[in-house]
Amino acid sequence: MKETMENKLFGKPVIHQEAMRKRIKLLGKKIAKDYEGTDLLIVGVLKGAFAFFADLARAIPIPLEVDFLVVSRLRDKRRKDGGTVKIISNIASDLKGRNVLIVEDIVDSGYTVTFLKKELLKQKPNSLKFCTLLNKPERRKVDVTVDYICFEIPDRYVVGYGLDYKDKYRNLPYIASLDNVIAE
Ligand code: IMP
Ligand code: MG
Repeated sequence: MKETMENKLFGKPVIHQEAMRKRIKLLGKKIAKDYEGTDLLIVGVLKGAFAFFADLARAIPIPLEVDFLVVSRLRDKRRKDGGTVKIISNIASDLKGRNVLIVEDIVDSGYTVTFLKKELLKQKPNSLKFCTLLNKPERRKVDVTVDYICFEIPDRYVVGYGLDYKDKYRNLPYIASLDNVIAE
């Protein structure tokens, strides 16, 4: 049988496109209100945040700048911190004195946010906040503050709208749960 993305791997959408569109519009307005009159730089964490970032940026109706960084999370169960986060490609902009909002796809253990916070604060931004499409609070290993959250989800592995399983399914236009797959 022809293998298409939608024919068997996924259960029903966990979050539909329309629900995301509505929620992102509201969040964009809230962010605009909080940052109005300031110098805002939003930074997308690639690859996972690419779809959310593009929609969120267009939902924030104030002037802002965009930039990106690419991270990779190397999982290692033997390590107490569950692995290491590496910056593969850093932000091109200078963060000093800027109001920086980091845009993530999902906050799971919290290690990525903790690492980015520590690294990026070295550049002395005026403010540093975090925004995520999805939050999985049940999986948290380290306590982190996430300032803007679109959706809280239970402990299930999800794909689509930027999120991957083994680097595939990022182009699925909605969030689906990948059944029978246990997050490594
Ligand atoms: P954390 O450092 O454990 O918070 O990991 C966050 C990263 O893990 C995200 O940016 C994703 O790349 C990945 N991740 C965690 N949960 C999921 C999931 O359910 N689906 C796809 N990727 C996930
Ligand atoms: Mg990933």
